[in-house]
Amino acid sequence: MTHHRIALIPGDGIGTEVLPAARRVLDSVAGRHGIRFTYQSFDWSCERYVHEGAMMPEDGLEQLRGYDAILLGAVGYPGVPDHVSLWGLLIPIRRGFQQYVNLRPIRVFEGVPSPLRDARPGEVDFVVVRENVEGEYGEIGGRLARGLPEELAVQEAVFTRKGVTRILDYAFDLAGRRGHRLTSATKSNGIVHTMPFWDELVAERAARHADVTWNQEHIDALAAKFVLDPARFDVVVASNLFGDILSDLAAAVAGSIGIAPAANLNPERDFPSMFEPVHGSAPDIAGRGIANPLGAIWSAAMMLDHLGHPEAANEITDAIAALLAKTPVRTPDLGGTAMTEQFTDALLEVV
Ligand code: NAI
Ligand code: MG
Repeated sequence: MTHHRIALIPGDGIGTEVLPAARRVLDSVAGRHGIRFTYQSFDWSCERYVHEGAMMPEDGLEQLRGYDAILLGAVGYPGVPDHVSLWGLLIPIRRGFQQYVNLRPIRVFEGVPSPLRDARPGEVDFVVVRENVEGEYGEIGGRLARGLPEELAVQEAVFTRKGVTRILDYAFDLAGRRGHRLTSATKSNGIVHTMPFWDELVAERAARHADVTWNQEHIDALAAKFVLDPARFDVVVASNLFGDILSDLAAAVAGSIGIAPAANLNPERDFPSMFEPVHGSAPDIAGRGIANPLGAIWSAAMMLDHLGHPEAANEITDAIAALLAKTPVRTPDLGGTAMTEQFTDALLEVV
């Protein structure tokens, strides 16, 4: 029996509705694979921020450090600015725990229509690997002469050899385990320092991964190709900003934000990794018990994979595919009338 200690951060809104569903599915597959989970729940959220002035306690990272993984719902609450939840919880965890890989698998499932006419189930199946801790999202820069005609703002991007090399190696290794194709997002025609550096490192790392065929595309053309021909991709690697945009675009191509999962990985396992659905707290439907739990459930499957249980993880993703393909049960975002709990019940029947 393998024992894993999981930190649960349900967060706000539907985060608190989808995590219990993910936990039910984890517990259901665990027994069959000789796994035992114990959970500790943390109330860190925008709601906590409203009452206590901080998203998490000062020693929050120390409290999380000893867990094997973190499963997060979503944070966000009307009235609390988005940068508070981002910089008060998500970014400290991602950066403090060196979760430098943000992984977003994209699949078009049978039974979930893509907004793209030609995106056929089974054909669209790729992964966006986003650099998660450096790049364009930094704190270096500033503003001068606020409100004056000569006002200016400067924002620096930071790309390090170490940071770019490790994300590229992760992506090439992943491509080596998947379809052996990698696409790098660049913009070295317009961004003339950091992006040529990125491109050089891509070529350098490619030489060490001879089993992977690779190419690079400028981000603008790449975005168009995501829409026009999403089936051509296997692994797409991108900087923090480009990966952020591409992964949301890709989730939209797949047909529903409610299904999309994400992992924030520390591949060296020096720190816990964090798994979270792509969607936010959805205040428009929160509290009604109708949130689609599949994004959280698929995120939990990614957690199982990371913890060394790929068969258990595949069992869950196969069950998601079977549920969508073979049953009419759907939450309202997918055109049905099922509640979160009923949808989870239906999944547990096919898992
Ligand atoms: P959102 O993802 O919360 O909602 C967008 C739309 O999709 C809404 O109409 C919502 O009802 C629907 N939706 C999302 N997930 C769903 C699910 N599982 N089942 C059914 N419908 C679903 O994005 P929005 O509205 O831009 O942001 C709301 C709050 O969430 C904001 O405070 C934002 O900052 C926060 N947020 C947090 C994220 C995180 O915790 N990582 C990520 C994105 C947004
Ligand atoms: Mg985003």
